[in-house]
Amino acid sequence: MAPLPTTPSSSTSSPTASPSRSLLHSKSREWDVVVQRNVRSSVLLLLLVSTVFVFSVVYTSRGFGAAATGEEAISQSPLVTAEELTNEPIAVAEDNVAPERQSPATGISLPSANSSAPVVSLPNTAEQTETGEVRIQVEEKCDMSMGKWVREPKGSVYTKLTCPTLPDFKNCQKYGKDPDHLFWRWQPDGCDLPRFAPERFPDVVRGKRLAFIGDSLARNQMESLLCLLSQAETPVNVYADAFDKFRTWHFPSHDFTLMATWTEFYAHAVPVVDADGKPTASFDIHLDRLSANWTTRLPELDYAVISGGNWFFRVNYLWEGGRRTGCVNCRGEAGLADSGVAYAVRRVVRAALQGIARCRDCKPGLVTFLRTYTPDHFEHGSWFDGGYCNRTRPLEEREVGSGHIGWELRRVQNEEVTRVRETMTTGSRRFGVLDVTKAMMLRADGHPGGHYDKRWVRNASDCLHWCMPGPVDMWNEMLLQRIVEIARSHVGR
Ligand SMILES: *[C@@H]1O[C@H](CO)[C@@H](O)[C@H](O)[C@H]1NC(C)=O
Ligand SMILES: *[C@@H]1O[C@H](CO)[C@@H](O)[C@H](O)[C@H]1NC(C)=O
Ligand SMILES: *[C@@H]1O[C@H](CO)[C@@H](O)[C@H](O)[C@H]1NC(C)=O
Ligand SMILES: *[C@@H]1O[C@H](CO)[C@@H](O)[C@H](O)[C@H]1NC(C)=O
Repeated sequence: MAPLPTTPSSSTSSPTASPSRSLLHSKSREWDVVVQRNVRSSVLLLLLVSTVFVFSVVYTSRGFGAAATGEEAISQSPLVTAEELTNEPIAVAEDNVAPERQSPATGISLPSANSSAPVVSLPNTAEQTETGEVRIQVEEKCDMSMGKWVREPKGSVYTKLTCPTLPDFKNCQKYGKDPDHLFWRWQPDGCDLPRFAPERFPDVVRGKRLAFIGDSLARNQMESLLCLLSQAETPVNVYADAFDKFRTWHFPSHDFTLMATWTEFYAHAVPVVDADGKPTASFDIHLDRLSANWTTRLPELDYAVISGGNWFFRVNYLWEGGRRTGCVNCRGEAGLADSGVAYAVRRVVRAALQGIARCRDCKPGLVTFLRTYTPDHFEHGSWFDGGYCNRTRPLEEREVGSGHIGWELRRVQNEEVTRVRETMTTGSRRFGVLDVTKAMMLRADGHPGGHYDKRWVRNASDCLHWCMPGPVDMWNEMLLQRIVEIARSHVGR
């Protein structure tokens, strides 16, 4: 078992002059600026609700404590309790009467005192292995993670006119983006990735429930799948909370349920408050507890697609055993070791995957995919300080630096999926990867940039989320391909 790397991430915020160097740097620090400007400008609720669609990565962490009511509405019956999710005791520190125990109650209202489930601490995991058990995993017949974008004259499966659920903030064609970015397809090195077949997907997921679990990029994938599937059948809107964090759609003729479930960190996390008690952009992330916001949904699922990473680039604090043990991006703060983004991501991915592997109430055949990290492509700035992304073709491979943190996060995510497969008794529960990092690193041309409804958010570019249609649809081509492979392996047994 490889020891946990503690190398601090080093490539997050050096302001370099060269566009190709700075191209892929995460600008998450500026998210704070975004938040402050907008919160200050006393906007209407309408603005907040609209803005949240596109800037929710930044935004939804703040000032929306009331959102918990929406959450409560859908989680009246938490099926996974602390005991059910894990039978390992939580690692207990000496004085665990710590402030963290209080913060959920005072900061954010959660469904119950048991709302976050303990997860096992890292050193114990190797003991989980039971030899002799035959584990059938998601068969990755072809490595689709490496390849290149090639010209595709057919264009996209859907258009702005044929997808009724296409959100305005990603409807780049409607707001004048050049359609050139639509005429590419991902060509994996060793095989072909079939074009998405809208009529095929519901056939292989008949009667199933699939959830995208994560932040606004997880929702981006859900929205893309919705557009792709709506080419064959119109989905029924079953549930939407006020902030578009929790969505449920149903395809009646195949009884297929599609959901988006919000979590920024997978671990239980609460915003750090300032002297006036107002939430700041930073979070206290409790590495030893999973957030009930998503674990309560697990038992109903047949497929879970988890993802994440972008929220970790803020100044965040890491907690374990009721004590603050480190931080991320806090360099210089007295007495705190900066563990680096990759370390924090590794810890929560591991906790999440272990939680899924051990979830007692979850379906035996639950299939979990981890969709790997995708970077933003701001150039010469960020959200509100003039950053933009107006490229009109995919980057050349040499334009993506090998030192980019995206590679490290991708490696960490892949390693943790391998780890859960090898160290946990997963039974018929399977774990796979949708490795889109390289493909998306190249697609600097696939973001809305300034092409979205400017009525509510002026003078800002969105170089983080993905246009629809656009390269994000490939994530679902990969997902369909993996699901088809699983269905086949079932038939073969
Ligand atoms: C759970 O979701 C609610 C509603 O969106 C949010 O306000 C809260 O911060 C989340 N709680 C955790 C622990 O992630
Ligand atoms: C929390 O879990 C404990 C142990 O299972 C249980 O005794 C207690 O009633 C639960 N509390 C709530 C508020 O659900
Ligand atoms: C937009 O932002 C840039 C960079 O901060 C600034 O120079 C410019 O004046 C802004 N434009 C408007 C119309 O506010
Ligand atoms: C992108 O925008 C910058 C700044 O406005 C401009 O200088 C550049 O020519 C644009 N590039 C393309 C390809 O439009």
